Amino acid sequence: MGIQFGGDYNPEQWPEEVWAEDLKLMKAAHVTMVTAGIFSWARVEPRSGQWDFGWFDRVMDNLAGAGIAVCLATMTASPPPWLSHAHPEILPEGPDGQRRWPGGRQHYCPSSPVYRAHAVRLVEQLATRYAGHPALAMWHIGNEYGCHTRQCYCAVSAEDFRRWLRERYESVTALNAAWSTAFWSQGYGDFDEVLPPRTAPTFPNPAQQLDYLRFGDEALRACYLAEKEVLNRLTPEVPVTTNLMPQHKPVDAFAWSAHMDAMALDFYQDPYAGDDHIRAGYVFDLMRSARSGQPWMLLEQAPSAVNWRPRNGPKPPGAMRLWSWQAVAQGADAVLFFQWRQSLGGAEKFHSAMLPHGGTDTRIFREVSELGRELASLAGIEGTRSRAEVALLADWHSWWALELDSKPSTALEHSRIALEHYRPLFEAGVACDVVPPQRELNDYRLVVVPNLYLLTARDAERLTAYVRDGGRLVVSFFSGIVDEYDRVHPGGAPAPLRELLGLRVEEFWPLDAGRTVAVEGAYAGRADLWSEAVDLEGAEALARFADGDLAGRPALTRHTYGRGTVWYLGTRPEPVLMRALLDDVRRAAGVAPVVPGLPAGVQATVREGAGGRYLFLLNHGTDTVEVGLPEPMREALAADGARGGTVDRVTLAARGVAVLTDD
Ligand code: GLA
Repeated sequence: MGIQFGGDYNPEQWPEEVWAEDLKLMKAAHVTMVTAGIFSWARVEPRSGQWDFGWFDRVMDNLAGAGIAVCLATMTASPPPWLSHAHPEILPEGPDGQRRWPGGRQHYCPSSPVYRAHAVRLVEQLATRYAGHPALAMWHIGNEYGCHTRQCYCAVSAEDFRRWLRERYESVTALNAAWSTAFWSQGYGDFDEVLPPRTAPTFPNPAQQLDYLRFGDEALRACYLAEKEVLNRLTPEVPVTTNLMPQHKPVDAFAWSAHMDAMALDFYQDPYAGDDHIRAGYVFDLMRSARSGQPWMLLEQAPSAVNWRPRNGPKPPGAMRLWSWQAVAQGADAVLFFQWRQSLGGAEKFHSAMLPHGGTDTRIFREVSELGRELASLAGIEGTRSRAEVALLADWHSWWALELDSKPSTALEHSRIALEHYRPLFEAGVACDVVPPQRELNDYRLVVVPNLYLLTARDAERLTAYVRDGGRLVVSFFSGIVDEYDRVHPGGAPAPLRELLGLRVEEFWPLDAGRTVAVEGAYAGRADLWSEAVDLEGAEALARFADGDLAGRPALTRHTYGRGTVWYLGTRPEPVLMRALLDDVRRAAGVAPVVPGLPAGVQATVREGAGGRYLFLLNHGTDTVEVGLPEPMREALAADGARGGTVDRVTLAARGVAVLTDD
């Protein structure tokens, strides 16, 4: 089958005469898969219960005839006007009680039984009609859950939240204890008194907010699962997925992964960001790790510019190719775009497409077609996997809790902190998994905990056991502070990690905006964002604060515990220090880069399996570089796109890609 290649196909935007040309040009561009029907609800059900599938039958038949597989959308992401007109109660409300009106998309309350019933009815029609259709390869449920409507606060959601709380806590006494309602006179006498955390005069109860984030994620997932139940019943052999978004706070990718037959991601690298490939690297690794290394799908990316940033830079020549290969190098078995043919009207007419307004005689169409050809030429990559010896922990519950209000500092952002820990590993060319704290860790030589503010006693014990048994662990500040209800672990911070880390944090000392402090010792330089008053209880100080309020107190520590070692960061070291520290730590853990001595800016990954062993070299830098290979390999895809012979060095131009194999 090979790597799937294609994009969103929205034929309802075009007269049927155009469809034949679509198919011809898709073949020319080496398209193997499209995701179709994502926003077709109003066309297939123009009035409640009146179905018009004839035109879509022709779309499906045409695609089958052309040998193009369909990842068929369930069409439920944008309810048609008749539905919200007849049932305005399906419209979502913000925390301020303001209704979100139709006119865009995703204007539904996830808890709405009316919305769900209509969605399920549509999915039953679709699955019944297209079961066994030769084009049907996969189901694509909804679209980017929680993208626009992240949470709803309406009366229907409130009722659903109370149901959720009753199931979770069983008694209002348990709820009161979990939410610390003795504070500010918030004790509830009955579940009926509980509301969503709507806009209040001051900070709403943090545990209530945290539970509402959990509930919101589950409400979105309930929509997905309601549709999935229909699909699994009517087309049990067809795999099911949905397109997740990168570092998307409302949707816990780890929790969703158990219900997806393949992880699927939309990722729009920002050409103007300069280093967005590092963020991509982190999210791609998370996608691969979520289902324990199973190949995932890049379900959407832009061929060039998007239309939704303040300034939308096109992808310069070679960037789309490089970033597509990056996804494959990090485990993707599908590279798809939004969208096939560029719209003439509507909100996304300036968003690039595989087939631009300018037609086939365009840079974008040429680059897209060339990428399709390249991917088709390396079908053996499909199904191969990577192995990592380093795990970075990520946890949505901790993220949700960390970014609630009323903290020592509101400047701690989960996504940024995660990337600050990921970057040194990426830049060193070290393979890395991104996993939840509950994952088995013993197979990893090194585990990095960027910032786990919320850590259950059980997960803290698992980290402790990991080190006791010989593991190497890095833990950053403000970890292990609260339990699953955002209640501080008693016993002095970070209580459940104190013995493991060999220290206590007497006081948090977040640094003011723009303020830096000096650290000195084995690591010398500057740090910012955070500091804390650490007392050693067995750990050694590798570096101490050299100025500021905490001068002389430990800043970076190391502790031997059981058969393992744990490092602790009581501040945010500047990037060069962070790199130096993590380089030393991974050497101590015996973790080697994929290719030793990689030039700066070059990414190297390996995938192997039944289809062979592949080394991917990607030059994200702006200079031409030479990469020496650890052993001679054959160029499956040479830097110029051709195939070459066996080499022991590769020259990579800026944005160059080489794929090598040893078969
Ligand atoms: C998202 C959506 C698509 C489209 C693109 C534009 O990924 O799923 O429908 O709006 O954004 O970038």
